This record gives sequence, C-alpha cells and structure tokens, in this order.
Amino acid sequence: MRDDGTRQEGTAETGTVSRETIVAGDSPANTSESRVAAQAMPVDDPAPAGPGWQSPGWQSPGWQSPGRESPGRESPGRESPGRESPADGSAPDATAPAFAEVYSGDFQPVDIGSLTVPTDESDDPPLAMEARRAVQVLNPSGNVAMPRPSRPRIMGVANQKGGVGKTTTAVNLAVALALHGNRVVVIDLDPQGNASTGLNVPHHAGVPDVYDCLVDTVALADVAQPVEGIPNLTCVPATIDLAGAEIELVSVVARESRLARAIAAYEEDYDYIFIDCPPSLGLLTVNALVAAKEVLIPIQCEYYALEGLNQLLNNINMVRAHLNTELEISTILLTMYDRRTRLADAVEQDVRNHFGDKVLKAVVPRNVRVSEAPSYGQSVMTYDPGSRGATSYFEAALELAERGAMLGEQR
Ligand SMILES: Nc1ncnc2c1ncn2[C@@H]1O[C@H](COP(=O)(O)OP(=O)(O)OP(=O)(O)O)[C@@H](O)[C@H]1O
Ligand SMILES: [Mg+2]
Repeated sequence: MRDDGTRQEGTAETGTVSRETIVAGDSPANTSESRVAAQAMPVDDPAPAGPGWQSPGWQSPGWQSPGRESPGRESPGRESPGRESPADGSAPDATAPAFAEVYSGDFQPVDIGSLTVPTDESDDPPLAMEARRAVQVLNPSGNVAMPRPSRPRIMGVANQKGGVGKTTTAVNLAVALALHGNRVVVIDLDPQGNASTGLNVPHHAGVPDVYDCLVDTVALADVAQPVEGIPNLTCVPATIDLAGAEIELVSVVARESRLARAIAAYEEDYDYIFIDCPPSLGLLTVNALVAAKEVLIPIQCEYYALEGLNQLLNNINMVRAHLNTELEISTILLTMYDRRTRLADAVEQDVRNHFGDKVLKAVVPRNVRVSEAPSYGQSVMTYDPGSRGATSYFEAALELAERGAMLGEQR
C-alpha cells in the first residue's frame, strides 16, 4: 500500500497498520521532544569485544565450533551466571540463584513433565553440560513446565527490516522450548545462515541444506541436523547456495509453496517449527508465509524498526487471501528494548495498543550477552543462562508454550 502521508487507522484484525498510528501514535511520550531526548541519551551497549570474543562474520564458511576452539572461551557463563553486563544498564537479577548453588558440579536430574534433561554423566560433552546447567539456572525449582502444544505449530519469524532480532528470537525460543521437553525444528531460510551459525550446525558450501529441499525436492529429514547438546532440537541449515534460490525458484512450478510441501512431507514428530526468514519480502519469505500457520514478528524497540511494518502486514494479508488461509499473526515480540530511552517505552506502548494481546508480555532487553552468544556457536540460553537476555527469552518461550497449550487439548 502506498503511503500517501495521510493517517490510516487499522486493527490487528484487519492486519493493517499505519506507521503514524504506531510511531507517532497518541502516546504522550512519543513527542518530538521525547524523540530528541531519546537520541541524546546513551544508547546501546558498547562493543562487546572481550577476551576471546570473535566475530563469526569473518570466519570462512567451513569454520567449525568456533567457541570450542576459542582460547578465551573458558565457559564464559560459568564465571557468574547471574551477572549482568553493566552496559546493559540494569542491576543484576537479585532473584537469580547464586552460582555456587547452581553449578556445584553435582546435578540433580530435573523432572518437568516430559522434559528431557541429560542426567549427570561425567563424560557428557561440554555443550550437554551447559544445557543442563542452563535448565538449572533458568528453572531452579524445576516447577516451570513448557507444555507441548495441542498440535504442531509452524511459525514464520518474519520482518523484512534487517537486524531486528529474527534469528536471535528463532534460535533462543527454539532452545528454550527444546530444553523443556518440546520437539523443535529451526529452518534457516536466510542465505546469511545466521541461525545455523547460532546453533553451531555446519553450513559451509557443500553441506545439504534447505536449498536442496526447495529447489531439488530433497526431503527435509535428509538435510536436518541435530543440534549438539540440545536434546529434541534439529536445524535445517542454510548454505550460501540459498542465495540463488530467489532467482532459481522463479521458474519452478508452485514456487511459493515449495517449503510448505517439504514440511507436509516431514514425518518426524515435532511440536514447533521456527522458520527464520531473511530481511526481505521476496520468494523465500513468501515460502515461509505459505508454509507457516503463524507469524511471529520481532519488533525492535526503535523508531525505524516500525518502518515498513505496513508492507509486511499487507504481504501477510495477500498470502492469507490467496495462498494460505490459515495464516495468522499470532505473536509479536519486542526486542532490544533499551529502558534508558523513552522512545523504547513509547514504541512498546504503541505496539501494545495496536496489536493487543498478540504482543508477548515478555520483552527482550538489549543485552550484550545475547549478542556475544552466536560467536561461541551458542544461544544465550546456554551461553549465559543467568543473563537478562536469557531469562527474557525463557519467559517469552514460556508464554508461547502456554498459549500453544490453550489451542486445544494438550498432547
Ligand atoms: N536483545 C539483544 N541484545 C543485544 N543484541 C542483540 C539482541 N538481539 C539481537 N541482537 C544482536 O543484533 C544483531 C541482529 O540480530 P539478528 O541477527 O537476530 O537480527 P535479524 O533480524 O535476524 O537480522 P537479519 O535481518 O540480518 O536476518 C545481531 O548481532 C544480534 O546478536
Ligand atoms: Mg537473521
């Protein structure tokens, strides 16, 4: 829809939204004065460079397990699971259990419904130990259950705006749910391969990947890889091959529903599939929207993050009208919330006013541990389970699971 500069009203039901409704909104906090104030305030964490920190970006596609080879890794979360980066602007979580209580090296098995948590095996690989420690830190009493949904949920994580937290959200929700007894698949549908990197799944050139499923009709089960250390989690990786898919798919029969077909033929038992979309509204994202039943939109709590949201909603409406009548925007997650800025608060209020209860109560703060985790081939859940980034994603996953359980009878 062309933006003619006039104010448009919309609702979550109609799926239309005016950027002015959201951004300018009626929120008293969102005045030009507050925007100026927000800009003048310190924003963001400083660069997360620390000893041993390595950007995955410059690694060759064939790099393997960077964290495990990183000299500075030394299980970074173990020094103090409850600590918080001062750059986060927040006090450490006083309710987080003391490190010694949690990581004595003497683990008790956790029983949370159908939760699959490795028992204390001294020869466990390090990632499995970290997964166990993550559950102990995030859910020390073991009383929190993430019920399996009544039917499998296929969620496209989409927003054509780049860098809003799509991949981070897909990876961390997937790990949190898998650690708590759900069977989860992450499909990396972005040629950047960030979800594959974040889950430490090989995705260098030559690895069978989602491209093969889309273009060459290879079965998803043949390319899916288990995620090391996280029981119940598999990843369908993306390699650089996927970069050509947007063009190659143009001439392919039923080009919009290739992924839907592949998922329909996927016979493994699963509770969640998260499809990590690229930052565009091209054929790959359309494939995700046709395959998904739900859309999860991460929205970064910053002014420009709302630009183009209308376009995304229009695309979702078009897919729903013509290709996938079941599709619904079920979940909005506010990410990279910086509580030092009034703008973040104004954006949150406007998004909540517009989308109502589709917006998860849990809000993910800007947190340096979240951005460090992928360089160790880990989610923040295992990298630093005591950080506010991890606890927020844990809460978001819990909300998602509870909503899923309300879809019908629990399995
Ligand atoms: N809560 C957070 N706190 C701090 N940094 C974050 C947070 N969430 C994401 N990041 C960082 O922001 C950057 C962008 O996040 P991410 O890759 O998840 O976004 P994206 O929407 O998937 O990006 P793209 O559109 O390129 O696929 C990454 O470097 C990530 O580590
Ligand atoms: Mg991404």
